[in-house]
Amino acid sequence: MVATKAPEDAYSAEPFVPSRGGLVALRKAAAECRGCPLHRDATQTVFGAGDTDARVMLVGEQPGDQEDRQGKPFVGPAGKLLDRALEEAGIDPSEAYVTNAVKHFKFTQAEPRKRRIHKAPNLREMTACGPWLAAELAVVEPELIVVLGATAGKALLGSSFRVTQVRGTVLEEEIHGRPERLVPTVHPSSVLRSDDRDAAYRGLVSDLRVAADALS
Ligand code: URA
Ligand code: SF4
Repeated sequence: MVATKAPEDAYSAEPFVPSRGGLVALRKAAAECRGCPLHRDATQTVFGAGDTDARVMLVGEQPGDQEDRQGKPFVGPAGKLLDRALEEAGIDPSEAYVTNAVKHFKFTQAEPRKRRIHKAPNLREMTACGPWLAAELAVVEPELIVVLGATAGKALLGSSFRVTQVRGTVLEEEIHGRPERLVPTVHPSSVLRSDDRDAAYRGLVSDLRVAADALS
């Protein structure tokens, strides 16, 4: 369907999500999504990447600067760190389906051509983009969802989600009408920002080991 600008109070990707088809159809349709204002300033939609048969789905926050330019999730510094941590935990990054709660890069920029600074998506944008994540879950049907940080947690489990309370544990919750198993952990970007990077990194790997065990 060709939708025009959504009214301010009705941000939603829903009208753009095809009712049939697999990941190829979803990715193609998502490229045209105008479900919220974030598409206006971003370069392109960054849809999830990976196989329909993936056993594990990793959910991040939103694409960053590099992801926005390349059109693929987790290809920047946070993604490099995540891949290393996954391997160390015994999860093959190439076998995971990787996506984000929000599919367009949100940023602030002091002036044109200045560095674009990541800005966290708000609840309305997360809610608007939810139908894409729901569609990815319905098609991939992962055995396990790894929740990377607070935004992904709130998008999937609601606004009361607190990563520190549940990280490294296996949760069983109904999400978009389906029973899902989830292992929350911190966002890899938070490891890069941490005062004690080594400890933060070890914490991430240890949570991911819980995920690896839950998959075996
Ligand atoms: N951070 C995210 O949450 N997702 C990406 O794809 C990259 C950085
Ligand atoms: Fe659509 Fe999500 Fe992009 Fe908003 S952020 S325009 S809902 S794909």
